[in-house]
Amino acid sequence: MKKLLFKLFCIFIPSSGLRHIFRFIGMNNKVIFIKDGKTINFLFNLKILKNFKISGYGTNNIIKIHLPANFTNSSINIAGNNCHFEIFPTTRLLDKTTFQLYGNNAQIIIGKDFSSTGNTMILATGNHSVTIGDDTIIAMDTIIQTSDFHTVYDINTKKITNKDSNIAIGKHVWIARRCIILKGASIPNNTIVSAQALVNKKFDEQNTIIAGIPAKIVKNQINWDFNTPEAYKEYFNKS
Ligand SMILES: CC(C)(COP(=O)(O)OP(=O)(O)OC[C@H]1O[C@@H](n2cnc3c(N)ncnc32)[C@H](O)[C@@H]1OP(=O)(O)O)[C@@H](O)C(=O)NCCC(=O)NCCS
Repeated sequence: MKKLLFKLFCIFIPSSGLRHIFRFIGMNNKVIFIKDGKTINFLFNLKILKNFKISGYGTNNIIKIHLPANFTNSSINIAGNNCHFEIFPTTRLLDKTTFQLYGNNAQIIIGKDFSSTGNTMILATGNHSVTIGDDTIIAMDTIIQTSDFHTVYDINTKKITNKDSNIAIGKHVWIARRCIILKGASIPNNTIVSAQALVNKKFDEQNTIIAGIPAKIVKNQINWDFNTPEAYKEYFNKS
């Protein structure tokens, strides 16, 4: 019995001093830190994990964090089996962000140079994924979720009308404050998602601003730069 309990309560990194960070029930779950393509000992990189928590239950789940990373006050929570979370290197801030993988085979894959500046939740449900391309940034209070969590159905056929669906966010996308990105949304490269937009469908034109509830294209032939307009202007005038 003791042996079984020990097996069930498998803490990812067997260091008692760090139990408040990694708490996981189940077998064969892995957290892997990778630097320059090589797996490394995370103990030397604890400064990246300021108040960063990984928790949940299930088996065969894998979390891959490519360094550098700059996570503060954030968490990854898994409830399921065979889930996959992976984030590529970023020196940008990732603060107060919650990643949740609920159900078997849920996936969240995030490209390099990602930033998320607070109170944001990214959630993937069973057999579904959230993918985010390189150089994408998310402002505060945004929610991204592959499921509505309750079922809507046709009263005649009983068929579900709101099935879970993948979310694909492209490269160099700027998601402004307080957006909601729902199941099935697809946001192409170089898109700006305006503050408070609700994105619930697939967009395929690149270099646009989308805005409103539900989001629609309000401007095209645009792009954005990480610098402030002032800094951008200065740089542009010099070049
Ligand atoms: C996306 C954004 C940057 C676009 O700014 P812009 O280039 O000046 O765009 P405009 O104001 O010319 O907007 C174009 C059109 O979209 C509309 N629009 C812009 N933002 C909108 C929004 N959030 N919701 C609904 N409509 C919006 C404008 O009213 C305008 O409509 P019109 O052509 O009928 O007049 C800006 O609207 C925005 O959302 N800013 C918030 C940024 C933010 O959250 N920053 C946090 C730090 S990351």
